[in-house]
Amino acid sequence: MSDAVIAHLVDQRDVILARLDALLRIPSVSTDPSFAPAMDAARAMLLARLTEAGLDEVQLLDGGIGQPAVYAAWTGAPGKPTLIIYGHYDVQPADPVELWHSPPFEPTIRDGRIYARGASDVKDSTTIAIETVAAFLKVTGKLPINVKIFLEGEEESGSPGLRGIVERFRDKLSADAMLSADGGRTSTTVPTVGIGHRGITGLELTVRTADSDGHSGRYGGAARNALREIMALLTTLHDDQGRIQVANFGADAAPISNAARAAAAAVPFDEAQFFGDFGGTRWGDPAYTVREATTLRPTIEFNGLWGGYTGAGAKTVLPAEAHAKITMRLSPGMSPANAQAALRAHLCAHLPKGVTLEIAEEFGGTPSNSLHEEHRLVRTALAVLEAASGQPAFPSRAGGSIPITAIFKEMLGLDAMTFGLAMPDEGAHAPNEFFRLSSFDEGLRTWPMLFSALGEMSAEEFNRS
Ligand code: BES
Ligand code: MN
Repeated sequence: MSDAVIAHLVDQRDVILARLDALLRIPSVSTDPSFAPAMDAARAMLLARLTEAGLDEVQLLDGGIGQPAVYAAWTGAPGKPTLIIYGHYDVQPADPVELWHSPPFEPTIRDGRIYARGASDVKDSTTIAIETVAAFLKVTGKLPINVKIFLEGEEESGSPGLRGIVERFRDKLSADAMLSADGGRTSTTVPTVGIGHRGITGLELTVRTADSDGHSGRYGGAARNALREIMALLTTLHDDQGRIQVANFGADAAPISNAARAAAAAVPFDEAQFFGDFGGTRWGDPAYTVREATTLRPTIEFNGLWGGYTGAGAKTVLPAEAHAKITMRLSPGMSPANAQAALRAHLCAHLPKGVTLEIAEEFGGTPSNSLHEEHRLVRTALAVLEAASGQPAFPSRAGGSIPITAIFKEMLGLDAMTFGLAMPDEGAHAPNEFFRLSSFDEGLRTWPMLFSALGEMSAEEFNRS
């Protein structure tokens, strides 16, 4: 059934690439309110495409706070599995813009790659998913499965309004499972499907050492400096080898099984290339391999640190306050609230006299999610990837977070598998993000194949697992 659909997609490649180009030109940065018109424009473009493609119920799902999701459904396959097809239309900020070789919102094809913010994460895979649905409707007038397309608008800012959307539109979101275009490959050499992600939670803190900045000649050497205090405080969180030193952090984590370690080791992984891709070097608890450290273990990371004078030239100032943004990645079992509490307690306990601490902002976060590798969705997807590539395919956990996977599990009982085509070396969240055209072409084959394969079973069979 998928052959004619694939042929149509291949035939329409240039048209689809033009649609993708138009979507990538919209700077839909969800975290920064100044991009609100672009968020509107991205929604309008997607609503128009889904309507044109012949989907039903095309609409925005507005949960009251945050960015609305774009929704559409086609449920004309009674008795067949119903899948929520997930993608997100928002992107991370393009900063630092000066490091891009071509402007982040002017997609440029070089060496078989599309360079643009959001190319890899995740407008390309999202486009493949939408166009797969459209192609089935165009060529066959129907779909092998029931689909509910859900395109989130604030994944990159921690999904603050998502619970509100689910509460309001719970009935629309009933399904058998979620199939995500976000969450790509964990290898550049073998095909993988995503069966788990780490959770995430974060906070922003302010350290204060005085009521106001001082002249560093008048006060320096005799009074505390907020920048030194924040550095001293933050360096208590890890030891020199990268082992987290926060009491109770991870006390609720599920023990790491030998099976999980074996699964992490099974996916081919080139450590030298992993570090070479971004020019970094190894650091972190030596008791765990790099793959374990990035998928099975929690982290505490500094995302931003500022204070004092950072403009041109010198300024002899004794800064009164300093700030840091911190996020924590959570391994399976860890609750965001417990991680927050452990970190806050540690920070307070390590604060010297005369220094005050304010937790200015946080995002509550979401726990890790996991899907059993024997799930029908996983087995079917692995078989499709093996048939398409002629190579063994692997179920794989990833280190990044996709909050909806945990929120839909918690609120709707839905399992999620990720089937995106992004590769780990494509500079997601960094300057010069790109997506391989070879992955684009691969997606135009594997997505229709997966739909057809899933359509061969009944919903009841699908859920039997
Ligand atoms: N696509 C990523 C998640 C991802 C990254 C999955 C790497 C697998 C491997 C997603 O768009 C993302 O970046 N999520 C954010 C969520 C955060 C802002 C709450 C993340 O992980 O930082
Ligand atoms: Mn992302």
